[in-house]
Amino acid sequence: MSTPNEEFLAKREKLLQGGGEARIQKQHEKGKLTARERLDLLFDQGSFMEYGLFVRHRATEFGMDKVDAPADGVVTGFGTVNGRVVYAYAQDATVVGGSLGEMHGIKIVRLMEEAIRAGKPIIALNDSGGARIQEGNDTKLYLDIFRLNAYASGYIPQLSAIMGPCAGGGAYSPALTDFIINVDGTSRMFVTGPAVVKSVTGEVIDDEALGGARVHSRISGVCHRVAADDADCIEQLKLMLSFFPDNCREKPPVYRCSEDPDKLVPELDTIIPEDSRKVFDVRRVIELMADDGFYYEIRPEFARNIVVALARLNGRSVGFIANQPLYKAGSMDMNAADKAAQFVNLCDAFGIPLVFLSDVPGCLPGVDQEYAGVLRHGAKMVYAVANATVPKIALTMRKMYGGASACMCEKGMGPDVVLSWPTAQSAVMGAAGAAAIVFRKEIAASDDPARTRAELTAQYEAAFNNPYRKAAREYTDMIILPSETRRVLIRCLKALENKQVEQLPKKHGNMPV
Ligand code: HXC
Repeated sequence: MSTPNEEFLAKREKLLQGGGEARIQKQHEKGKLTARERLDLLFDQGSFMEYGLFVRHRATEFGMDKVDAPADGVVTGFGTVNGRVVYAYAQDATVVGGSLGEMHGIKIVRLMEEAIRAGKPIIALNDSGGARIQEGNDTKLYLDIFRLNAYASGYIPQLSAIMGPCAGGGAYSPALTDFIINVDGTSRMFVTGPAVVKSVTGEVIDDEALGGARVHSRISGVCHRVAADDADCIEQLKLMLSFFPDNCREKPPVYRCSEDPDKLVPELDTIIPEDSRKVFDVRRVIELMADDGFYYEIRPEFARNIVVALARLNGRSVGFIANQPLYKAGSMDMNAADKAAQFVNLCDAFGIPLVFLSDVPGCLPGVDQEYAGVLRHGAKMVYAVANATVPKIALTMRKMYGGASACMCEKGMGPDVVLSWPTAQSAVMGAAGAAAIVFRKEIAASDDPARTRAELTAQYEAAFNNPYRKAAREYTDMIILPSETRRVLIRCLKALENKQVEQLPKKHGNMPV
């Protein structure tokens, strides 16, 4: 006869096997780790404290009375990640397909509520067939999860990994969180799967082409990063977390920086090509400025005309927003505005200062952009930048034309410091377009319209293609050598460390969508 302790240990051991050997093998054959293997990688060794291992579902219909579902298909609890307390849940695809039944949902809700009370981040490892079909109407629990995602938004960091199927109700929770990382080859994320799509619209498509990682990283923009496999996914989650505080009341963690904060970066002095029509890779600028040359780009494959990245300057988290001349000449368009607006909101919510690096010829013109609401989308970015109260530093590297100057936090948008490199040029629009409008009559009346156009364009360029005009009007605070930029940013951010901004006594704004 076994003792109570032995009985407990035997029961626990059985539950820890999840759906059992055969299903675990099936999971491995798909290139996926199990829920518990994933949590083992996430948490510092031996630190995981599990809640609800002995929870049992109470469904009886459609054969559920005969289904044993260990932990009801989701492992929930907290542990430490590099010494910091983090709450996490991992859906167990070996148990009823990781589907969300009543008790499964209750466990997640209980965990989220505690994480919010404790003011600690939540990481969700999703791998689920969605709402548990046999339990019919317990989708209410999904709505509880969505509500808590929204409630916690901006208070604690919420990170989501898509490590298998993530359909229907399951897909909306990640979509409400701060960061979504999809594992290449195994993640499938959609509102409805291929079968439903076919039955409703007649379109025939497979699940990878409908909701695979590449679709969401390149086309929809839903996903922020792609991971090569489960282990890479967990590593990236830890990295992302390292930039953020536990909650918005705390400051982001500061790391030791081995580099001299005053060092100059000579390569930056020659990074802007002499020919203003030539391009450069703005990621190299970020790399040269960041501590250890390290930065973590968010949505790198989506709206590549803008780069948004987390990095550190002298050990402190910073968010870079940079026009990328390599794509669409760095112009602003709808997707770029959406991408940057979300990033600005994220950094602002968690006290991460913003650095804007501009080389922008303006907003992308076009009928399709206007019809699709470039104003509505651009407004999201302008709204986010205007409302951000974290330290904001704007640097014009080269072009700064037109309405894009609002997106890139020029004077008027409430930047703390505006910097220019000697290569900066700015006006309401580019010289060729401006000359065509203001000198239209002179060009039309000329014996040699092409020559007149070129001369007048050059005149306009000479007037505005330098940083001094803006500096004379105090639209630029400092003109600096590119090689000095890192140390100038570090010093200004240090000065702005305790920046405070008075807020109006309103409930919340009405953000354009
Ligand atoms: C109950 C489910 C399930 C579900 C999977 N299973 N999804 N059980 N409810 N939603 C079970 C399977 O029956 C199977 O049980 C086991 O999990 C493993 O599933 P497989 O199909 O063998 O695995 P795989 O081939 O990897 O396919 C995974 C899958 C597929 C792509 C997720 O199972 C699937 O398409 N499931 C249904 C997806 C779906 O339509 N969900 C409803 C979403 S509606 P056995 O016993 O055979 O091993 C929704 C609305 C919510 O979520 C609204 C809230 C607002």
